[in-house]
Amino acid sequence: MSVKCKNVKMSFKTAAGTVDVLKGVDFEAPMGKLTMLVGPSGCGKTTLISLIAGLLRGASGAMDVFGNEVLAMSAAMLVPYRLKNIGFIFQQYNLLAGLTASENVAVPLVASGVGWPAALECGQKTLEQMGMGAHLNKLPSQLSGGQQQRVAIARALVHQPRLLLCDEPTAALDGHSGKLVMNLLKELAVADDRAAIVVTHDPRIYGCADRVVHMEDGLIAKVDSIVSPDLGIDFDKSSL
Ligand SMILES: Nc1ncnc2c1ncn2[C@@H]1O[C@H](COP(=O)(O)OP(=O)(O)OP(=O)(O)O)[C@@H](O)[C@H]1O
Ligand SMILES: [Mg+2]
Repeated sequence: MSVKCKNVKMSFKTAAGTVDVLKGVDFEAPMGKLTMLVGPSGCGKTTLISLIAGLLRGASGAMDVFGNEVLAMSAAMLVPYRLKNIGFIFQQYNLLAGLTASENVAVPLVASGVGWPAALECGQKTLEQMGMGAHLNKLPSQLSGGQQQRVAIARALVHQPRLLLCDEPTAALDGHSGKLVMNLLKELAVADDRAAIVVTHDPRIYGCADRVVHMEDGLIAKVDSIVSPDLGIDFDKSSL
């Protein structure tokens, strides 16, 4: 079981004509590994992970995610697929401003049919595990960037997805907080034999990866396997 993309092509129609964004991507993300996807702005990274997440449709080729042929699924089929399999961490956190930290984390469980009290309790436990016990009832505007990112990570993990997709999770953080967030992702996302794909421009965190996949102009240019990934530094999670 893993994530496998074969000859994936995606084009967008614009007023100026058709733009070919993915031109035949072969990509793999093994289970239990952190795969980083890097490359210049506009090369197609967000497009690729949005297709894997089932947030975007219209590509050709083959995309097998834990046995699901994602590109062949209807919009209606993609909803349960996402709820069951995918945790997505967006660059700008995308927290709901009117909800507390715990409520934000509870949202994916409620969307999967869990009752609100049980979802809230589970959200609180997940945040506590991440050293966020003192911030459960705060609104996003009352949290630092690193704290908001931890709420976003907790929200992506609370329904125990098998695949974690992160789009520039450290872009808004300083170097130290970025490293801590990556360690947290590794600890939480990869330990249970899930898979994680992290899109990044941030060379400071390349060392955390098991594999670095380089993308250029809609194609995979090369793959580096990291022999001794940085398994993480000990840190006080409440210091973020
Ligand atoms: N909905 C869309 N309609 C038209 N063009 C699009 C659309 N979405 C993306 N593109 C184009 O596709 C190309 C790839 O975009 P994508 O967002 O995947 O790049 P990226 O590698 O994630 O870049 P960045 O590092 O800047 O986030 C860009 O040229 C972008 O303008
Ligand atoms: Mg992008």
